[in-house]
Amino acid sequence: MTKRFINKTLKEKDLSFDRKLRPGSFDQFTGQAKIKERLLIALQAARGRNEPLEHLLFFGPPGLGKTTLAYIIASEMGCNIKPTSGPTVEKPGDLAGLLTNLKGGDILFIDEIHRLTHVVEEYLYPALEDFVIDIMIDQGPSARSVRLNLAHFTLIGATTRYGLLTAPLRSRFGLVNRLDFYQPEELKEIVLRSAGILQVEITEPGAMEIAKRSRGTPRIANSLLKRVRDYAQVRADNKIDPEIAHRALSMLDVDEKGLDEMDKRILETIIRKFDGGPVGIETIAVAIGEEGETLAEVYEPYLIQQGYLKRTRAGRCATPLAYHHLGIDLPSASQKELF
Ligand SMILES: Nc1ncnc2c1ncn2[C@@H]1O[C@H](COP(=O)(O)OP(=O)(O)OP(=O)(O)O)[C@@H](O)[C@H]1O
Ligand SMILES: [Mg+2]
Repeated sequence: MTKRFINKTLKEKDLSFDRKLRPGSFDQFTGQAKIKERLLIALQAARGRNEPLEHLLFFGPPGLGKTTLAYIIASEMGCNIKPTSGPTVEKPGDLAGLLTNLKGGDILFIDEIHRLTHVVEEYLYPALEDFVIDIMIDQGPSARSVRLNLAHFTLIGATTRYGLLTAPLRSRFGLVNRLDFYQPEELKEIVLRSAGILQVEITEPGAMEIAKRSRGTPRIANSLLKRVRDYAQVRADNKIDPEIAHRALSMLDVDEKGLDEMDKRILETIIRKFDGGPVGIETIAVAIGEEGETLAEVYEPYLIQQGYLKRTRAGRCATPLAYHHLGIDLPSASQKELF
């Protein structure tokens, strides 16, 4: 049961938990220094000119703080935020409904913006550029298009799949921000802050132990903290130190580098079934019984960032580091040429 814990954490969010620990201001938001600075300048400039903020895009793997930043911006700008998501806005009419209800300075937050249909996207362009939307009234011969003026709003888009956004949509954002995985030091700060909110007693080295195994991701750091807290409550007198963290996390099959069962299965499959690659992501997905989309969105980015996996034109390859981590001998010289 514990095996799939991280997989679940990465894919499904525990919303009430997320909300409770979500930083409400830039001060509480650890890491992503460059993005924070860029945003603070943009915010200050917009406020100084008394104008709405330009349209913003956040992209990066799940759980790194895209939604959090959207809400912080709304709170710092003192404006309303209307959240929705790509798959929810099915028809142009849905979009028109959302847009016409916005007031000047409001933020429309579209999560999973890569999942908007092309038709809806086409309707969004004039809204973003000229703050107008053309809607069709009636059907058949009496059908006509009516242009509606919109209030000057700000769109904040978030996506885990930047590559799937169309070029015209990308080009309509004034600020495009790519969120990177967090450093262990930063995650340690996040764990300590969350422990404070949850009133959990934890030592700094204990927080570091959790941080190191969190796949560079605040959401995972918080989830692991929650599990370690349970363990500490039942097996140790409510106090988290490195030893307790280590024992609890080993029970969850999270290894020293933060790789979980699924990460290891992906690497092992590439190495054992496909001679280390190159192999296409869909083929790997079929071999391990997971969706290609999930592999690309959730697992692959961290494995690539940590140097276990390489993306080549011919497909994915396991790196020598992956062989080493799994304790598998490196293949012959001819195979090595691929690295
Ligand atoms: N920089 C940060 N400092 C502290 N906590 C953070 C930070 N970034 C994220 N978190 C925590 O991680 C949780 C997940 O963040 P968030 O929901 O913003 O991620 P996301 O990028 O929108 O993920 P998804 O792609 O799955 O929607 C937040 O609720 C918050 O508790
Ligand atoms: Mg989000």
